[in-house]
Amino acid sequence: DRSIKIAPSILSADFANFGAEIRAIEDQGADWVHVDVMDGHFVPNLTFGPPAVKAFRPHVKTFMDVHLMIAPVDPYIEAYAEAGADMITAHIEAGPHIHRTLQAIKAQGVKAGVALNPGTPAEAVADVLDLVDMVLVMTVNPGFGGQKFIHSGVDKTRKVREMIGDRDIHIQIDGGVTTETAPLVAAAGADVLVAGSAVFKGGSVDKPDVYGQNIKDIRTAAQS
Ligand code: DX5
Ligand code: ZN
Repeated sequence: DRSIKIAPSILSADFANFGAEIRAIEDQGADWVHVDVMDGHFVPNLTFGPPAVKAFRPHVKTFMDVHLMIAPVDPYIEAYAEAGADMITAHIEAGPHIHRTLQAIKAQGVKAGVALNPGTPAEAVADVLDLVDMVLVMTVNPGFGGQKFIHSGVDKTRKVREMIGDRDIHIQIDGGVTTETAPLVAAAGADVLVAGSAVFKGGSVDKPDVYGQNIKDIRTAAQS
């Protein structure tokens, strides 16, 4: 299914209110819930361990997409799968054995994604495409929400879509997605758009309709 899916990143949610925030974005049209896991080592920020992800699980009715920005990855795959991830995405830069890592993710019975940092070329994923359900093209250097979109990701997306051919693989974009940048990456072949600041800006659990409008605006822009 290549229709546009909007995946709000709860990194931009109210950290004292995750259950209500997740319900609000889903009620307001989010297709997936994107969970950014950071380890203070692979990226310069710290977020959610497996117990936090497990606590999110009962609130997520759609699809829980867990983006691991951690190194090493392999020792934690089972814990994040058991915490209830529907998909686990690992970075190709996180270690020398991405192939083994993706096999280990699939062995847990969850969907597998491979992520590329802005400095990593599209070609780097060529030999793991048969193992993945999604390629994540990062359009910021991972670590923080609210950064500026890096435009080289558009061409990279086009290359990845070409390499995928007729395989059933999503392309996800993460970082700096707005109504301005969404149409560029959608035209290049992306179908899952992560957005943190662009979804949560101006809204709250008491003003959830703002989330709804933001999600709708990004979706409409991407489809234009
Ligand atoms: C970046 C994270 C992103 C981030 C996106 O390290 O992986 O998911 O929260 O935030 P925005 O949409 O604000 O760039
Ligand atoms: Zn992310």
